[in-house]
Amino acid sequence: MPEETTSTSFSFSPLNPFGWYAAHRQQSPVVRDPRSGLWHVFRYDDVQRALSDYAVFSSAAGRDETGQRDPLGASMISADPPRHRRLRSLVTLAFTSSAVARLEPRITSLVDEFLDAVAARGDGAMEGTGGIRGIRMDIIDDLATPLPVTVIAELLGVPPSDRAQFKQWSDAVVMGSQATGMTGRSPQTEMGQYFQGLIAERRKQPREDLISALLASQIDGEHLSEPELLGFCILLLVAGNETTTNLIGNAILCFDEQHGQWERLREEQTILPKTIEEVLRYRSPVQSMFRTTLQDVTLSDVTIPAGSAVLAWIGSANRDEARFPLADRFDPIRAPNRHIAFGHGIHFCLGAPLARLEARIALGRMLERIPHLRRVEMAPLEPLESLIVFGVKHLPVTLSQA
Ligand code: HEM
Repeated sequence: MPEETTSTSFSFSPLNPFGWYAAHRQQSPVVRDPRSGLWHVFRYDDVQRALSDYAVFSSAAGRDETGQRDPLGASMISADPPRHRRLRSLVTLAFTSSAVARLEPRITSLVDEFLDAVAARGDGAMEGTGGIRGIRMDIIDDLATPLPVTVIAELLGVPPSDRAQFKQWSDAVVMGSQATGMTGRSPQTEMGQYFQGLIAERRKQPREDLISALLASQIDGEHLSEPELLGFCILLLVAGNETTTNLIGNAILCFDEQHGQWERLREEQTILPKTIEEVLRYRSPVQSMFRTTLQDVTLSDVTIPAGSAVLAWIGSANRDEARFPLADRFDPIRAPNRHIAFGHGIHFCLGAPLARLEARIALGRMLERIPHLRRVEMAPLEPLESLIVFGVKHLPVTLSQA
C-alpha cells in the first residue's frame, strides 16, 4: 500500500490522497517503494513525460501480446509503436467523433429513462415538466453505472435481449473476477465466446454498429485480427465504464462540497463543459498509470534504472501548484486547464469525447430536472479499492425542493 512507500509522515487516504501527493511533490517527487520495488512519480512535468515518452516508458514491456494470459495484453493500451500505431489507426477509423456525436439523442433518452425510474420509485412527486423532488437516489447505482454500460453495449451492437447478461460479464471482467458461472467457464471466456458469435454474425450481415465498422476498417488492405478485435471490445469495457461512472459520481461530490454550486450551474448551464474539465482535474477518475522503463532515466534529479515498474500519478500532476494556480481549489470556470486526466501523447484516451458527452448529458439532464440535490451525509463514503480508478462505491443523495 502507498503509505509504506516513503519516509514521509503523510499517510495515504484513499478518499483524499491529495495531502500525500502534495508532500511527495515537495519532498520526494520521484521515489522507490523498497517493499514492492515500484517507482512513484508525482510532479506534473515528470508524469506527463512518463505517459508520453514511449521510447523510455513502455506500455508493452512485460505484457502478454498474444492476449492469452492477459485479455488486455493484445490491445492498444498495452502496445508501443509501431504496433500501437497500427491498432489505434484501424480503430480510429471506426470510432470517429461523428459516430460519437450521433449518440447524443440516444444518451439523452437513456438518462431520462434512468431518472424516470428513480421518480417512479419515489413518492411520485414529479413536477409538470418532468422534474423530480423529494426522492432519494444513489447516483452510482441508479445512473452513473448503468449509463456507460448500456451506451457501450448499444455502440457495439449487443441486442437488447442480451443486455442483462452483457452487464454481468462486463462487471465481472472489470472487477477482474475469475469466478465461474453456471457454465463452469470464467466470465472472460464466456464473454469472449459471445463476442466471437457476434463478430461472426456481423461478418455475414453487417449493420450500423461498431463491430461491423471495425470489421470493415482497413489500412493498406490490412484488417484487425480476431484476437485484436476481441481485445478492443474488452478494452472498451475496462477502460470506458468505471471511469465514466466515476466522472459522474465525482462531479456530484465536487458540486456538493461547494455550497450553492448546483443552483449556480442550473442558472448557467453553459459553463457545464468547463466545470466537467475541472472535475476531471480536481478528482481525476484515473489517478495513476503504469509504465516500464526501457533505459535509465532521470526525472527531478533522481535516476530510475532500466527495467523498473513506474506508477505515474495523474491525480497528483493535476494538483501540481507549479502548473495550476490555487491547485487545491475547485474552480468551475478554471482557464486555462491543461489537466492530463485523459493521459498525454499517443495513448491519449480514445474515449474522451464519449466520456465528456455522457457526463455533459447526464449532469445536464439532472440539472434541468432536479432543483436541489444534497448528499445524504449520514451515509459514510466508501472509496473504491484501487490505486488506479478513483471514486466512491455508493453516493446516496436526496433530490428536493428546498
Ligand atoms: C472519464 C472517463 C475516462 C477517463 C478519465 C479515461 C482515462 C484514460 C487515460 C488516462 C488513458 C491513457 C492510458 C495510458 O496512457 O496508458 C486512457 C486510454 C484509453 N481510454 Fe479512456 N478514459 C475514460 C473514458 C473512456 C471511454 C468512455 C472509453 C471508450 C469507450 C475509453 C477508452 C480508452 C482507450 C481505448 C484507451 C487506450 C488508448 C491508447 O492506448 O491509445 N476511455 N483513458
